[in-house]
Formats: sequence, structure tokens, C-alpha cells
Amino acid sequence: MRSPIPDYLAEALRSVEADQSGATADYIPELADADPDLLAAGLCTVDGHVYSAGDAGVEFSIQSISKPFVCALALADRGFDAVLEKVGVEPSGDAFNEISLEPGSGRPLNPMINAGAITTHTLAGPEEATPEARVERIIDGLSAFAGRRLQVDESVYHSELSHAYRNRALANMLRAHDIIGEDPLVAVAGYTRQCSLLVNVDDLAVMAATLANRGINPVTGAPVVSAKVVRQTLSVMATCGMYDGAGDWMTRVGVPAKSGVAGGLIGALPGQAGIATFSPRLDRHGNSVRGVELFERFTADMGMHLM
Ligand code: DON
Repeated sequence: MRSPIPDYLAEALRSVEADQSGATADYIPELADADPDLLAAGLCTVDGHVYSAGDAGVEFSIQSISKPFVCALALADRGFDAVLEKVGVEPSGDAFNEISLEPGSGRPLNPMINAGAITTHTLAGPEEATPEARVERIIDGLSAFAGRRLQVDESVYHSELSHAYRNRALANMLRAHDIIGEDPLVAVAGYTRQCSLLVNVDDLAVMAATLANRGINPVTGAPVVSAKVVRQTLSVMATCGMYDGAGDWMTRVGVPAKSGVAGGLIGALPGQAGIATFSPRLDRHGNSVRGVELFERFTADMGMHLM
């Protein structure tokens, strides 16, 4: 029997189609020029079925949705103590690109904001890895989460890097506090490559489903990270993944989630499914407007709220 899920997803997309509120990210020229009307949703169950609807074939840069996965790789590669020494787990209540460092130690409050994510970028792979090898480790790791080889969008990479004044400032603060131990510009270049990886909603749904499936990719069967690492990652997504909109998100949608400024959004429902949406117009927190609406609808229709 044909699954009703693709029809359900297509109908959900139609229900939000008319909403043109919000705007594409304007601080990365390549993203400002994206087609704002693109709209897609994907779902992957923990038994490995992938369904999608809308502009599901369209690729876009992963941006901040890379952050929980790179955090997971850092936890796996360096261990909890080494990561927690450098990055906290507390919500900042501030925008994703705010400084948000702990007074005194200079530790970024969490790995979902830019300061924390630049730090976890430097903690992926073995300590002695070169910056290039570290980027390769991250591409390999995110590809294992997705179940296919992901590629960097070079034009997004160069576009963002040529305007990365804020991230360079953050990285310099991190270097001044000895949170990162290397040239801040090198750290930002690597982090920007990580953010420029191209994905579609199917990839993101599988990546989220790998978290929902305790670290085992449900499509390829490959173990990517341990269940302990997944628990830590999903916890941080639940409290910090939607930035200064995290409390509103948790009460209304109730699923660990992460957004990206290209318009992607993922949610991981432990033991059940990974869900992804794509729509480039963003709200004031940098979260996709129609993506948030779709997730509110999924929660209401499918009883996804964890509480
Ligand atoms: O560092 C940045 O500003 C971007 N590469 C990523 C920011 C982002 O996706 C914020 N999320 N909604």
C-alpha cells in the first residue's frame, strides 16, 4: 500500500504556501539572492523510510544546522570533558551571532551560537589534525549522518567569508581567552566551509533521523556517533537550537531542533523520526518563518510534542 505521508507533507506545504512574511538572510550576499518562494519538507523514520514533498531536490547550504552535528563529532573525537571545558550548555537568550561568552572564563555559552560553534569546529578530529584535515573530518562525518557524500558550495563559502567580520571578531575574542588555540581567521574559514555544505530536505531528514535513532543512520545502517553523544547533542538542541526563540519553540513545538540561515530547519523525535523543512524567508531570530509554521502543524497533527 502506498504511504499517505507524501500526500500529507504536500498538503502541509500548501497550507503555508501563501505566507510571504520574513526575509532572506541579508548579511551573506549569496543567500540574499536565493529564491524566497522555495518550499520543501522531508521525513525519515527510524526504520529508514524517506518521504518528501515540494522542492525536495533543491540543494541549499546547511549553515547553522551543521552545528549540532559538528558538536556531536567533537564530543565523539575529544570526549565530553575536553569539549565542556571550552563550550558550555546554557541557553544564551541572545541572537546567534552575539558574543555570549561566560564572564571570566570566556567560554561560549553553548555550541549552537556562532561563538560556540566556531569553538566546536576547532575540536572536531584529533588534536594534531591540520585545519584542512579537520574540515575533511567534518565533511566525512556530516556525510555519514546524511548517508551520501556532501559537497561544499564554493560560491556560498566565498560570499560568506568575504563578509565574515562578526565571526572574525568572535573568533578573536575566543583566541584572546585561549578558548581556541589557533589563528582565528583559520578557524573562521574552516567553520564557514562547514556551513557551506550543500544539502536537500531528504539529507537533513536522514541526518535528523540518525540522531533520533541513537546515532545509527537508519538508511545506511552505519553507526555514526554513540547514544551518549546523541543524548548530549539532542539536549543542547532542545535548550539552545532555536537561539533566543528556543523557549517559545519548546513550548509550542516541543522537539529538539536546529535552524539555518539558508532556510533549513530540522527536528529529531527520539525513537521515531527526523523531519526537515526548507523555506528561505526568516523571522527576526534567523529561523525560517514557514518552517516554524510547518513544525507547529506537524506537532498538532502528529502529536510530536515530547511533553
Ligand atoms: O555563521 C553564520 O553566521 C552562518 N554561517 C550560520 C548562521 C546560521 O545559520 C544561524 N541560524 N539560523
